[in-house]
Amino acid sequence: MNSIRTEKLCAGYGSVRILHNVSLEVAAGETVVLLGTNGNGKSTLIKTIMGIVSPSSGRIVAEIDGREHDLVGMTTEEIVDLGIALVPEGRRLFPRLTVEENLLLGAYRPTARKRLKDNLTYCYEAFPRLNERRTQLAGTMSGGEQQMLALARALMSSPKILVVDEPSVGLSPLFVRRTIDMIAQLKDRYELTVLMAEQNFTQAIRIADKGYVIVHGEIAFHGENPEAMHRSDLIRQHYLGL
Ligand SMILES: Nc1ncnc2c1ncn2[C@@H]1O[C@H](COP(=O)(O)OP(=O)(O)OP(=O)(O)O)[C@@H](O)[C@H]1O
Ligand SMILES: [Mg+2]
Repeated sequence: MNSIRTEKLCAGYGSVRILHNVSLEVAAGETVVLLGTNGNGKSTLIKTIMGIVSPSSGRIVAEIDGREHDLVGMTTEEIVDLGIALVPEGRRLFPRLTVEENLLLGAYRPTARKRLKDNLTYCYEAFPRLNERRTQLAGTMSGGEQQMLALARALMSSPKILVVDEPSVGLSPLFVRRTIDMIAQLKDRYELTVLMAEQNFTQAIRIADKGYVIVHGEIAFHGENPEAMHRSDLIRQHYLGL
C-alpha cells in the first residue's frame, strides 16, 4: 500500500523560511485535505513534496508497494517515476497544444510510456468530454474542462499517490462539486492515496478522511476525522464563517 508523510519539514525561498516543522501523514488509501487560506504555505508544502522546492531540514517519506523512499534529494522526475503525481495549482496545461498532446506529455517518463495506450484509454473512459475534444486546443477548453484535463494528465503517469493543489480555484460551484466528486471516483478506481490542498472546506470534507490546517507555514490544527474537523473553532471561524 502507498502512503506519504513529512517529518518536521522546513522549507522556503532563499533566506525566507515558509514552512516550519510541518509533520503530516497521508496513510494508505486515505484522502487528506490540507486547508489554508492564501499565502499560508499550501503550495510550498506541495512543491517541497514534489522536489520542486528543496527543504532546509526534515524528511519526506513515501511508502510505495511496501518499500520506503526518502524523497528529500530526489528530483521531481524521480518522484513522479516512483508513482507520485501532481495536479498543480492553476492546472499548468500547454494551452496551444491539443487535449491529446497534453495527455501524452503526462506520460513522458519511460515507466509511464510503457502503459501509455492503456492509460489513454482509461482517461478517455473516465472523462468522455476529453475524448470528444481530443483535437481541441487545451487553452480553448472551459475552466472546468481544463481541470479535468489536468487531472487526466496526472493519471497518465500511473500514479499511486495523487497530490492535487487547489482544484476548485476559478470554478463555478457546480464544477467545484463535480471536480471534487471526480477526485473521489478516480481515487476509488485507481486505488489512490490522495493529498489535496483546498480552501473550500465544505466541498473538500465531503471526500476527505481527515485534514490539516496550515497557518503561516505551521500545522495549526489536525483533525483525525471529518467530525473533528467540523468541530474545530479554527475551521468554523475561517472556513465556515461561524
Ligand atoms: N517562488 C517564491 N519566491 C519567494 N516567495 C514565495 C515564492 N512562492 C511563494 N512564496 C511565498 O511563500 C508564501 C506561501 O505561499 P504559497 O504559494 O505556498 O501559499 P498558498 O497557501 O499556496 O497560497 P494560495 O492559496 O494563494 O495558493 C507566500 O508568502 C508567498 O509569497
Ligand atoms: Mg497555492
